[in-house]
Amino acid sequence: MKLITADYTYTPHGFKKNLAIVYDQKIRTIDTFENLKRKYPDAGIAYSGANSILYPGFINTHVHLEFSANTTALQYGSFRTWLDSVIEKRDELLQACDNTLMQQKTEEMLASGVTTFGAVSSFGAELEICTGIPQRVVFFNELIGSNAAYADALYHDFLERIKASENCDREARITPAVAIHSPYSVQPVILDKAVQLAAQKNYPLSAHFLESQAEREWLESGEGHFLTFFKKYFNTSTPVTNIEAFMHAFDACPTHFIHCVQAKNEELAYLAEKGHSIAHCPRSNRLLGCGRLAIEKLGELEMPFTVATDGLSSNWSLNIFDELRAALMMHHAEPLQKLSGQLIKSITSDAAKILGLNTGSIEEGKEADFTVVTLPDMPNSAEDIALQTILHTQKASEVYIGGEKII
Ligand code: BEZ
Ligand code: FE2
Repeated sequence: MKLITADYTYTPHGFKKNLAIVYDQKIRTIDTFENLKRKYPDAGIAYSGANSILYPGFINTHVHLEFSANTTALQYGSFRTWLDSVIEKRDELLQACDNTLMQQKTEEMLASGVTTFGAVSSFGAELEICTGIPQRVVFFNELIGSNAAYADALYHDFLERIKASENCDREARITPAVAIHSPYSVQPVILDKAVQLAAQKNYPLSAHFLESQAEREWLESGEGHFLTFFKKYFNTSTPVTNIEAFMHAFDACPTHFIHCVQAKNEELAYLAEKGHSIAHCPRSNRLLGCGRLAIEKLGELEMPFTVATDGLSSNWSLNIFDELRAALMMHHAEPLQKLSGQLIKSITSDAAKILGLNTGSIEEGKEADFTVVTLPDMPNSAEDIALQTILHTQKASEVYIGGEKII
């Protein structure tokens, strides 16, 4: 047994002073430092130092590692120019993305205190590095393909990738999962099969949804930039589904919808009623000209959301603190302290619940995944800790996964 203590601990009941945690792979006991020192005289004691805050390990629910080679190649400003640039540079970027680069990007996440991430994979190429890193990975095998002629073959390939992610060693900490690329890019027949598979196996399920105005226009009326795009690259001019039909396809399986920036109130209400959640990627949304997700509406609907980085195809870093700071600035009408608290919750307990993980909070029986943040000074009030953590942190000062000290 080991014992860790910091100046403050982020608990389900707020930031608490003078707590300690006894753990092995899991959190065994939480009590005052004095009590635990007495009860566990043989436990090795680690104090995280002045101005330290002990958090559960952070969770980035949505990232694409396979686009890690992009820095300046893709064009930002509008979804339309971005999508065109992806088509142009896609092969080049995928070619340039090797295991060394992807590994570096997982290390960047780890350095910012991310102990678990949800990796969306279209080819399965990331699985090898994901099995060799200390983090937990929810491995979202992505289903993509709007052309009915290829649907069976694509579904078969998807099943093979699912199998590969199921067959990893236990130590690899991989959770197999299902990702539906989007309403415009997946044939409804295979979409239904993939949702059924996720429901049967109780796998996490995610789908990009209503990211851009162009997507909305295409799904509503078959018009706009997607019409040009589909005519040019797929020789079709009709969408494979519409907004309502796509939403209904997920009724039986709580889904982590990515973006939803362009969802209307009634659509958000429907998603909330069915127990779904949202991954909010503020920097990606800003760079692709997609708009602002109205997180205040999610609060009214009691719909859980996470803050996630998305991939480097629409971002400049995978540092979760960069993303939290962007969210803090983007939602400028929200009270600062309250928003900061929500943001921290979104990458800890809310994210863990959404992905079905036994992590994300400092409670007995949870996995011993910890991220220690050291502030430059201690805020006057515990109410300010979440905000000051978001403002001042570039890197975690310590990271533990399954009780093992990684940083
Ligand atoms: C497809 O594979 O059908 C597809 C991929 C990306 C965008 C749109 C469609
Ligand atoms: Fe994404």
